[in-house]
Amino acid sequence: MTEQTPLRLEHIYKFYPGVTALEDVDFAVEAGEVRALLGKNGAGKSTLIRLACGLERPDKGSITIHGKPVEFKNPADARAFGIEIVSQELNLVPWLDVAENISLGRYPKRFGRIDYKAMRRAAIESLARLDVEIDPSLPLSRLSPAQQQLVEIAKALSKQPSVLLLDEPTSSLPLTEVSALLTTVKRIASQGVAIIYVSHRLSEIAEVAHSVTVLRNGKLVSTAPLSELTEQMIVNQMVGGAVEHSEIEPREFATAPVVLHVDDLTIKQRIEHVSFDLHQGEVLGLAGLLGTGRSEILRTIAGFEPVEHGRITLGNAGDHRANVRYMIARGVALTPENRRDEGIIPRLGVHENLALGRWNELTRRGLISWRSVRTVAGDFVQKLSIKTPELDTPVMNLSGGNQQKVVIGRWLGVAERVLLLDEPTRGVDVEAKSQIYEIIRATSKRGVAIIVVTSELEELLWCCDSIIFLHKGQASQKYRRADLNAETLNSLVNGGDKGVE
Ligand SMILES: Nc1ncnc2c1ncn2[C@@H]1O[C@H](COP(=O)(O)OP(=O)(O)OP(=O)(O)O)[C@@H](O)[C@H]1O
Ligand SMILES: [Mg+2]
Repeated sequence: MTEQTPLRLEHIYKFYPGVTALEDVDFAVEAGEVRALLGKNGAGKSTLIRLACGLERPDKGSITIHGKPVEFKNPADARAFGIEIVSQELNLVPWLDVAENISLGRYPKRFGRIDYKAMRRAAIESLARLDVEIDPSLPLSRLSPAQQQLVEIAKALSKQPSVLLLDEPTSSLPLTEVSALLTTVKRIASQGVAIIYVSHRLSEIAEVAHSVTVLRNGKLVSTAPLSELTEQMIVNQMVGGAVEHSEIEPREFATAPVVLHVDDLTIKQRIEHVSFDLHQGEVLGLAGLLGTGRSEILRTIAGFEPVEHGRITLGNAGDHRANVRYMIARGVALTPENRRDEGIIPRLGVHENLALGRWNELTRRGLISWRSVRTVAGDFVQKLSIKTPELDTPVMNLSGGNQQKVVIGRWLGVAERVLLLDEPTRGVDVEAKSQIYEIIRATSKRGVAIIVVTSELEELLWCCDSIIFLHKGQASQKYRRADLNAETLNSLVNGGDKGVE
C-alpha cells in the first residue's frame, strides 16, 4: 500500500519561537481521497500544509512520496513531485486574462514566441476538468471571487498534480458559491487526485470529505473515516470537550435613543434608497447575498466612501462625514472584511495592533505608555482567547483565525457609539465564534450600537436583535429576530416572502 501513497508525513515536529506548532504528527493521504484537516485556530493546520508543499521544512520527521523519502527545499521541489497548493491569498494577476493567469510563469512557446492558441487550449482544457463555464479571454478582474478561486484551482490542476492542498478555500466565498467549489473538489478527487482540505465550516466537511484528521495544540488527535464521526464528535476532538454555544436573548431596543439615522442612502446605483434607524445598544444584522452591497453600506457609514445620495446622521451627536478619522473620533469604527489588506499591520506586535485605534488614550504628551498598552492588550488577549506566545509577537506569526481576533479586538475598544463588523467570524473556529458573539453582546450592553454583516446566516439568529435584508439593491423593513427562524431567514435573504413581520 505504502508504495501508492502519494504523500506521507511521519513523526513531524515544527518549532517556532515560544511555540511547538507540530509535535510528532503522522499524516498520509491516498489517491482519490478528500481528507479534511481540522482543528481550532492555531492548532497547526496551515503549518502542516506549508511543510507538505515545501514552503517550510520540518525540524524533525520525514516526508515520503510513493514510499520514497524526499526533502523539499522550496515549493518548486514539491511541485516537481506533483504537490500543488491553492493558497488563500490568490496568486493571480487581475489585469491579465483567465488563460494568461492559468499559464502564468510557463507560457507555451512556439518559435520563441508565446503561443497564444496553445495557451487558450490549455486554459479551456483545465477549466473543462472543473466543469465550470468561464470565458478564458475575460480579464480576471471581471470574475467573482468564487470564479477567481476556481481559476486558481484550474491553474494548480494544469500542472497535473497528484496532491492538491486547499487551506480554507471557501473562507472568502459566500455560502451560495461554496457548493460549486465543493462539487469541483469532489470531481477532482474522483479523477484520482489526493486532496487535503482545511475549513472551519463543518457543513462543508460533511459534504466533501471522505476522512477527517483532527489536530489539537499541534498534536494529532485522530484520523477516521467521516462515516464513523458525528459533528459533535469532531467538535469534541477539536476543542477537547464540548462547546457551549448559547443563543443570546434578543433585547428590546425601540425605546433607546437613535444613534445612527440612515436616510434614503443610494450608492453607485447598487444600493437604492436604503433607510433605517439604529438604536443605542441594538445589534442589527445586515443580511444578503454577496454583491448586495452590505460591505458598501458599512464602508459608507464608517466614512470610507462619500455619501452620493441621501443622508447619514449620528443621532444627536452631529453630522456624518466621509472622513474615517473624524468618524473614529466620534466613536464609529469598522472592522473590515479583508483583514490582510486593511486590518493588521503584520510586522507590529499583537499589543501594538490591539492598541492602534487608541493611541490618543495611551499616549501622554507624545510619549507612549507601554505599560498601558500592555494592560489594554493583555485584557483583549484574555477576553478573546487570542493564542500568542507573547504580547509583542508580530501579528503575522499568529494563525489566521487569531489575526482575525486581533482586528476585532482593536476596534472593540474604539467604537464607543457604533461598531460595524464585516464578517467578524471569517476563518474563526467554533469556540471562538461563540466568544466573539458573547463579546458583541457585552459590547452592546454598554450601549454601543452594532451592525453585523455575515455570510453565515444562522449566526444572525444567534446574536442580532433585528435584521434587515438586502436584495437587488433594495432593503427590506427591519425585522425583529424573535419573529424569524432559519426558514424565514433563508427565504428573505433570497428576496422572497416580503409579508413576514
Ligand atoms: N511563522 C511563524 N512564526 C511563529 N509562529 C508561527 C508561525 N506560523 C505559525 N506559528 C504558530 O504556530 C501555531 C500553529 O499555527 P497555524 O497557522 O498552523 O494554525 P492553524 O491551525 O492554521 O490556525 P487557523 O485556523 O487560525 O488558521 C500557532 O500557535 C501560530 O502562532
Ligand atoms: Mg491556518
